Order: sequence, then C-alpha cells, then structure tokens
Amino acid sequence: MVTAPTVPALLPTYAPYPFPLVRGEGDRVFDDQGQAWWDFYGGHCVCATGHSHPALVKAVADQAASLLFYSAAAALPVRDQAAAQITAFAGMDSVFFCNSGAEANENALKVALLLTGRKKLGAFQGGWHGRTLLALSVTDDPKITEPFAEHLVPTLRLPFGDLAALAAADFSDLAGVILEPIQSMAGIKTASAEWFRALRAKCDASGTLLIFDEIQTGMGRMGTPFAAQFYRVRPDLITSAKGLASGVPMGALLMTSAVASQLKGGDLGSTFGGGPLACAALLATVEVIESEKLMAHATGAAARLRKELMESVVTEVLGEGLLLGLRSAHAAALKKHLLAQNILVGGSGDPTVLRLMPPLNVSDQALRALISAIHAFTPEQP
Ligand SMILES: Cc1ncc(COP(=O)(O)O)c(C=O)c1O
Repeated sequence: MVTAPTVPALLPTYAPYPFPLVRGEGDRVFDDQGQAWWDFYGGHCVCATGHSHPALVKAVADQAASLLFYSAAAALPVRDQAAAQITAFAGMDSVFFCNSGAEANENALKVALLLTGRKKLGAFQGGWHGRTLLALSVTDDPKITEPFAEHLVPTLRLPFGDLAALAAADFSDLAGVILEPIQSMAGIKTASAEWFRALRAKCDASGTLLIFDEIQTGMGRMGTPFAAQFYRVRPDLITSAKGLASGVPMGALLMTSAVASQLKGGDLGSTFGGGPLACAALLATVEVIESEKLMAHATGAAARLRKELMESVVTEVLGEGLLLGLRSAHAAALKKHLLAQNILVGGSGDPTVLRLMPPLNVSDQALRALISAIHAFTPEQP
C-alpha cells in the first residue's frame, strides 16, 4: 500500500517569524511567551491604525452584534456610509468593494479591458500587483508568473519613472496602465511628479485608463490620503486594500464618474465585498486617521527617521511618509540584528533595502528603539 507523505495541516506560504504571535497593541505585537516586538512591518503594511485600536475593536464588535453579514442583495446603511466616506477621502466618485488587493486589481484591469475593447495591458518593471491571473499578468516577478505564462494577458512593461522611455512608448493598443506609485517590493522606488504628469497626459492622449495600485501607498501612509493627492494626478481608477479596514479583509476599486457611468449593474460583483463588518472597520479606520491626525504623524515620523539615521549604517532613506526603505550594504545582517533587538522590519526584492511600513500611529518610543538599535549595529568586517 502506498501511503501519502505527511503534510502540515496548514499549507506553507511564507517563512514565518520563529515565534507565534498571540496579541497586538498599537505598534507592538506579543509572542506566546509574553515578549513584545516593535512592529515596523505592520502585518505587511496592513495595520494602519495600529494593532487592535480600541475604536476599531468597538466598531467591529458593535457591527458583529447587530448584523454580521448581508450581501449586496440588500442595501445596508453602513455600506452606503463607507462608500461615501472612502470616495470623499480618496477624491474619487464611486467605489466597488471586494475582499483583497489582488481582487481589486483584477477588477480594475477587467474594467479597462471591458471599457476599451483592447487586449493588451501596460505596467512597469519591478511592479507587484497580486496573484490572480490579470494581476499576475502585470506583475514583474518571474518566479510566480512564469508557471502561468500561457494564461497571462500580453503586457507592455516599461522602466519605472523613466521619462524618455515613457515618451517613446506606444500606448495606442493599451487598455490600461497600472502602477504602484511607490514600488514597494521592488525596494521602495519612487518617480518624479513630472513623470506622473507625463504618464497622465500619455494615457489621456491614447484613451488608456490609468490605474494606481494604492494597496500600500493609500490610506494616509504617504502623509496624504492617497498617492494621487501626493503627486496631484487623478487616475481613472485607484485600488486599495491592506490598511483600508485596518486588517479586516477588504478591497476597494475607486473610480471616476467617467468610468463608473460606463459600467452597468452586474458588470462587477462579489458575495463578501462590502460586507457590514468590513464597512464598519473602514468607517472607523478613516475616522481614526483623521481624528488622530495620523497623516501628519506619518510625515513627521519619516522626517525624524531621515534626520536621525544620518551617519549610520543606513546610507539612504527611500520613500515617503511611512512607506520607507532603508538602504544599507549590510541589509540582511541589519535585519537579523533588529530581530534580535525585538524589532520587526521587512525585506524587499532589492537585497540592499529593508522596508518599514509600521502602523501610522507608531510611537516615539518605537522610533527611538529603532534608531538606537540601528546606531548600535556594527557590521562584521570580512
Ligand atoms: C502593491 C500591492 N498590490 C497588490 C497586492 C495583493 O494584495 P493581496 O495580497 O491582498 O491580494 C499586494 C500585496 O502584497 C501589494 O503589495
């Protein structure tokens, strides 16, 4: 008899930290031994308002006790309020709610294909947009895209932030162009406001829909509600997820009235999208970001890190607000050193860049702990 190999009940995905987490509070998480960790990783850029913010806990608990779920088959006041609030916050006109970042991008790209009738997409080298098939088509990560190559939609991939390459590109057959306004996984890469304006103009001239994947850059992280406000460019579509509902799974596809008016009922849909629990969490998230002035706090924290990390092993602080990259020739050893000091940070696709994406209300104490741990680090000489 052939016996199947023993496999773990939970299919492995990422390599987890070497300790399980059981609790979170603000900018700290706690393991099963009661040890605290400063969280500059934010559950992968998700915990916008910090772990278990009391306003979020109350909003979710109250909503769960009154109506935990009903689909779009019923109108829900909490969903209407969430739609009004997030469109106003993002400066867009209409929203479709879904459940994750990949799903938001998948729907954005579907809308572009549907409304233009074109068959090709545009994206950027180093871009990362998720694991569904259209999202994979525009993602530049061969280890996850190549196994599906024959199922992917043809995509023109341009260098990010390159004005000359943009000017030379032919957009006439592109349905939509998608980008992370700050490329996160690629190593916190930024582009100039001039390049964003040129990209908007190029899309206008060719009838190509411009899609900002703001799954990491949105929800106040750059010191403005979305990168669209930071760069003063209004895309046709913005996708959001991660911090959108502070960790309650939710995705959003925000659009202009020009886009929304061309879609009819049934073009998009989702069972769980816009569920009351997620909508209550979204309402509380925006309320906390605004009432606790977390966007200004993010800008201030970034300025402090830039200043106080000068003359350290960090040679450059990349990014904006609290989506930051620390460049260091010793990045891997530094990450290990920080973990030993109970500080969680993220790696990136660039082996010389560590990423910081902490809760927007990261405390003075956490910043001090990070800054002094970095100054205390001495790379081993070969
Ligand atoms: C910029 C960006 N887009 C899309 C995604 C996909 O989001 P999700 O994992 O919620 O599907 C991610 C996830 O890391 C992301 O960072």
